[in-house]
Amino acid sequence: MDSLTIILTTIILHKLTNALDTATICNNDNACKCINNTVSCTTLAQDGVFVLPNGTEIVHFDNVPITIINNSTFANGKLQKITWVASKIKFVEALNHNDLKYLDLSRNNIIKLSDDIFYNCPCLEYVDLSDNQLNILSDNLFLHSSSLRTINLEKNIFNSISKNLFKHTINLQNLSIGNPNLTFLDENAMTNLYKLEYLSIENSGIRNLNQSSFGVHIYLYSVILNNCTHLTSIDNNFIGSSSNIKIIELNNCGTIESLPSSIVSLKNLQYLQMSNTQIQPNCQNGWFSQWFNNETTTVVGYEKYSNFIKTLNEINCPPTIYYTNSPITLQLTKKGIINCMAYGNPFPAFTWLIPGGLTFHENKQADVDIAHHPNIHNWDLNQIVSQSLLTDKNGSLHILRMLRTHIGNYTCYVSNKYGNSSKTVEVHLDSGVFFNIKINALLLGISSALGFLMLTILCCALKLLLKRLNCMKKRSQPTETEMGSTEKPKILPENV
Ligand SMILES: *[C@@H]1O[C@H](CO)[C@@H](O)[C@H](O)[C@H]1NC(C)=O
Ligand SMILES: *[C@@H]1O[C@H](CO)[C@@H](O)[C@H](O)[C@H]1NC(C)=O
Ligand SMILES: *[C@@H]1O[C@H](CO)[C@@H](O)[C@H](O)[C@H]1NC(C)=O
Ligand SMILES: *[C@@H]1O[C@H](CO)[C@@H](O)[C@H](O)[C@H]1NC(C)=O
Ligand SMILES: *[C@@H]1O[C@H](CO)[C@@H](O)[C@H](O)[C@H]1NC(C)=O
Ligand SMILES: *[C@@H]1O[C@H](CO)[C@@H](O)[C@H](O)[C@H]1NC(C)=O
Ligand SMILES: *[C@@H]1O[C@H](CO)[C@@H](O)[C@H](O)[C@H]1NC(C)=O
Ligand SMILES: *[C@@H]1O[C@H](CO)[C@@H](O)[C@H](O)[C@H]1NC(C)=O
Ligand SMILES: *[C@@H]1O[C@H](CO)[C@@H](O)[C@H](O)[C@H]1NC(C)=O
Ligand SMILES: *[C@@H]1O[C@H](CO)[C@@H](O)[C@H](O)[C@H]1NC(C)=O
Ligand SMILES: *[C@@H]1O[C@H](CO)[C@@H](O)[C@H](O)[C@H]1NC(C)=O
Ligand SMILES: *[C@@H]1O[C@H](CO)[C@@H](O)[C@H](O)[C@H]1NC(C)=O
Repeated sequence: MDSLTIILTTIILHKLTNALDTATICNNDNACKCINNTVSCTTLAQDGVFVLPNGTEIVHFDNVPITIINNSTFANGKLQKITWVASKIKFVEALNHNDLKYLDLSRNNIIKLSDDIFYNCPCLEYVDLSDNQLNILSDNLFLHSSSLRTINLEKNIFNSISKNLFKHTINLQNLSIGNPNLTFLDENAMTNLYKLEYLSIENSGIRNLNQSSFGVHIYLYSVILNNCTHLTSIDNNFIGSSSNIKIIELNNCGTIESLPSSIVSLKNLQYLQMSNTQIQPNCQNGWFSQWFNNETTTVVGYEKYSNFIKTLNEINCPPTIYYTNSPITLQLTKKGIINCMAYGNPFPAFTWLIPGGLTFHENKQADVDIAHHPNIHNWDLNQIVSQSLLTDKNGSLHILRMLRTHIGNYTCYVSNKYGNSSKTVEVHLDSGVFFNIKINALLLGISSALGFLMLTILCCALKLLLKRLNCMKKRSQPTETEMGSTEKPKILPENV
């Protein structure tokens, strides 16, 4: 009896443990595949707890509907990657996965994320919450997520980005936030994202891109603004403070009232895409007509350019300087160009005031006040001939041979009958070369000094030697006066 019970219980127990062992999600043969540490399920109907094989690291669910993800959704597993898409998820509570690096919950119906969703995920690097129904983003959402590299919040319904949302995600490189309801970016909303490389605000309802929201992003290379149909202005400094931008996509954006002329200063720009986007023909955007024709720049798909230029040419514009390469540093005796790019209609006169007081004119007939001036003159309007400086038709000043006297502030003044404007360019001397020259001079000084010393020593030694020889000679035939005068030198050589 006793042994039978024991045997029976063992069998039952064994069956139970077996059942427990095998009761993982992997039993759903046709919906799930479990290979190595990865569990992939497609079109699986199961609610509640998902028991994973021990040691599962990667979960990939597609169309596995659930309403809420919470602390007890996954049993077992040390999850590093969770992909759970197109599954009608509505709520997500705290994810307690210490090793989680990657989370993709896109294409669900998420309307609410618990504030502490990521508090216990210190390793999180990638979050995709795009294509959901999020309308509020808590300031604390990424409070403990400083490891994040990529955040995708596209295609939700939130209206704004607060200044605190990305305050702690200082390692972020890739950010996508566009949605049609997004119209407001707080001041400083992105100023902490020093490492940002890729920024997409496409498909959003934003009107102005203000520098105050962005700050300085020296690594930013891609700015995606496609389909921002309400966009009218982009701050000059927004582009200007991210000097390494390579790609700007501005397709399908309606009419831009003010396109930032700082685009001209982007040395690494590969292309500016502008299909089905227009620039309003106004004086502020006039620079674009000069830049567009520059063969080194690539504007992709500005179909309406001829309309733009036609209307622009009919508008009288006072000149504005849109680009100077200030400050500039030149090497001694080398040549250099000081740029002053200006747009005005009619094309303006350029006047350069250079250190030392000389004045250079180019295209001076555009301004009646200076039309009678000599091309190059001094304070008294006396014509001067310059060997080392000249101007060209585009308004640039060329320094043919950099000298110390060329250091200083150069003022570019542009004028036509509708107005004038000016900017100052600082010209410096390459301090590296300057330093080298100084060092070289110093070395030369030292070596000459040493040489001189050596010569002196040699000379003295020779002199003393001679004198000694002289003395020895004289010892044989000493004279009263010579003895007295050579007494000291006679001792010295013996001590040397
Ligand atoms: C599973 O892991 C083994 C060894 O770690 C590896 O050789 C194999 O390719 C993996 N299989 C798959 C499908 O990843
Ligand atoms: C987690 O959510 C399920 C519903 O999916 C619910 O039954 C369960 O009580 C929740 N557990 C916790 C700890 O909130
Ligand atoms: C996982 O491991 C635990 C012990 O660490 C064990 O109790 C449990 O039965 C295992 N589950 C599966 C599904 O293997
Ligand atoms: C979540 O579950 C873990 C253990 O799985 C537990 O340590 C933690 O306290 C739980 N957190 C919450 C908020 O329930
Ligand atoms: C950033 O994300 C976008 C789309 O989400 C992708 O196309 C791009 O390659 C990513 N860039 C980097 C640097 O990860
Ligand atoms: C988002 O925009 C749509 C259409 O413009 C509007 O109907 C909806 O109310 C907006 N939602 C929110 C949360 O602002
Ligand atoms: C940009 O600044 C203007 C005022 O200068 C303000 O009206 C607008 O809302 C700001 N835009 C954004 C996106 O913050
Ligand atoms: C552009 O935005 C509109 C609405 O804002 C949307 O319907 C359309 O699909 C978007 N186009 C692209 C190419 O994303
Ligand atoms: C053309 O563009 C390049 C790079 O932006 C610039 O260095 C050059 O001066 C431009 N030329 C003219 C004539 O504007
Ligand atoms: C002036 O600019 C035009 C293009 O706008 C260019 O072709 C020309 O080479 C430039 N001239 C000088 C002297 O740089
Ligand atoms: C040039 O101008 C700057 C400020 O614009 C000034 O600090 C500097 O002293 C000036 N340099 C000379 C040589 O006048
Ligand atoms: C330059 O323009 C200002 C107005 O912006 C005007 O007051 C001034 O007289 C102009 N200077 C010259 C020399 O035309």
